[in-house]
Amino acid sequence: MPLPRPLADALWAVQFRLNNRFRRRLTVLKCEATGAAASAAAGVTVVGYGPGEALPDELAAALSDRFGADFPAVQRAEAAEGATLWVGSLDGEPRGFARTRPGDRAPGWHEALGPDDRLVYAMATQRAARGRGVSTAVLRAALAAVPPGGAAWADTMVWNAPALTVLRRVGFVDLYEADPLPDHPD
Ligand SMILES: CC(C)(COP(=O)(O)OP(=O)(O)OC[C@H]1O[C@@H](n2cnc3c(N)ncnc32)[C@H](O)[C@@H]1OP(=O)(O)O)[C@@H](O)C(=O)NCCC(=O)NCCS
Repeated sequence: MPLPRPLADALWAVQFRLNNRFRRRLTVLKCEATGAAASAAAGVTVVGYGPGEALPDELAAALSDRFGADFPAVQRAEAAEGATLWVGSLDGEPRGFARTRPGDRAPGWHEALGPDDRLVYAMATQRAARGRGVSTAVLRAALAAVPPGGAAWADTMVWNAPALTVLRRVGFVDLYEADPLPDHPD
């Protein structure tokens, strides 16, 4: 029988902290550009905001509310580094996001990436909205925008089963394990 949701959440939060402290090892993953159209679960929509596009005020306020008051400042800094923000909404409410950067704007990653590659990072879904396909749709939208001939790259902690599940589901393949990077964009 599955644990009640609040208990499962609390247990995962403890495991997350402990693992993050003592098992700091990453799985590096890659997904070749497929040219496949993005798809999403019922009620889930995704919008991408390129580096030159300001977020609507209402959206910025909702994301700050759900993901931290520093969201607008982080977003400005990320956009200045060439990042695109992908926002996933559930029934019209923004609940999750991820970022992508062109490979040549991701220096110091595990390996050199090209301008047509995309680094996928900073994916998160509001706790209460997890398990409803938001992140899967966000990743599919980001993958649909990878230029032909490029590939999407990602890494996540080896123990982060939800992140690995979503990445593998949309087509990422595990390549190797690596230590965390000093300047990891996150
Ligand atoms: C990883 C994360 C973004 C996924 O977001 P999400 O919107 O819940 O993702 P989806 O609903 O599209 O899919 C989640 C899948 O993971 C599965 N999952 C959840 N917990 C799991 C676990 N402990 N083990 C294995 N799979 C798990 C879900 O069952 C679901 O798969 P299903 O649809 O087949 O049931 C979200 O869990 C999150 O914000 N985590 C905290 C931040 C984080 O760790 N980010 C990754 C850093 S690289």
